[in-house]
Amino acid sequence: MSSNSESIGKTLGVVTALCLVCAIFVSFASVQLRPFQDENKAKDIQRNILAAAGFSDVKDVKAVFEQNIEARVINFKTGEFTNTDPKSFDFEKTKFDQKRSIKLDKATDTAGILRMTEESPVYIAKGKNGGIDSIILPIQGYGLWGVMYGFISLEADTTTVKSINFYKHNETPGLGGEIQNKAWVATWSGKQLPIDIVKGTAGSDAHKVDGLSGATLTSKGVDHTVKFWTSENAFGPFLAKVRQGALNNG
Ligand SMILES: Cc1cc2nc3c(=O)[nH]c(=O)nc-3n(C[C@H](O)[C@H](O)[C@H](O)COP(=O)(O)O)c2cc1C
Repeated sequence: MSSNSESIGKTLGVVTALCLVCAIFVSFASVQLRPFQDENKAKDIQRNILAAAGFSDVKDVKAVFEQNIEARVINFKTGEFTNTDPKSFDFEKTKFDQKRSIKLDKATDTAGILRMTEESPVYIAKGKNGGIDSIILPIQGYGLWGVMYGFISLEADTTTVKSINFYKHNETPGLGGEIQNKAWVATWSGKQLPIDIVKGTAGSDAHKVDGLSGATLTSKGVDHTVKFWTSENAFGPFLAKVRQGALNNG
């Protein structure tokens, strides 16, 4: 009897020790790997920004980004640059920071995002002679199943779309997931703001883009997202400043 309880005690001791060792190992690995994970996440964002700016299949993402893209932070209300470090923005988390974001009322929240930050990073792809080639804006909005995160890039005139690029979403592959389909993305190039996503064929209408077939709800989500972020409630004041040439003073 006593040897039996002794062996149970020993077994429990070994199991506890093993759990402790494993927990320490996992915590250590998680802490050690975090900088690499953060770096990969930042690189992935940079790759998507480059893709929106028209750089595809980039190998040295960091170098090409640093050479061609200027990251700045703007204040939505004033449309002016601020001194905030663009690296301090995590697109998905900052809006939940009560000190850096505001709750949107229902009438304003057409993209279904609940909160928005007071500031936002913007990315300027530099053209020849240091001028603006395109402006890349982070956007997010509710699709059918959740928030879709992406970038829209505009030509220097601020009304011609260069590209749109969703990098994270929960839409159904083959249906709403087609927002990442290259052929559909290509239909945005050269379109003019404001844009309506229409059921059927947009044809050559510069203000219309074809909706995704079988994914009307996701298409509506994209429509609302683009309208919201290019409106006066979001990047509108900044885009007006760009048109006035105010960026050169930044
Ligand atoms: C399993 C399942 C997944 C779906 N996923 C999507 C989706 O990701 N996006 C979307 O707009 N509609 C999705 N739908 C279809 C919608 O319920 C709805 O029927 C559709 O948006 C209507 O589009 P249509 O008018 O172009 O047919 C899904 C339907 C089912 C059954």
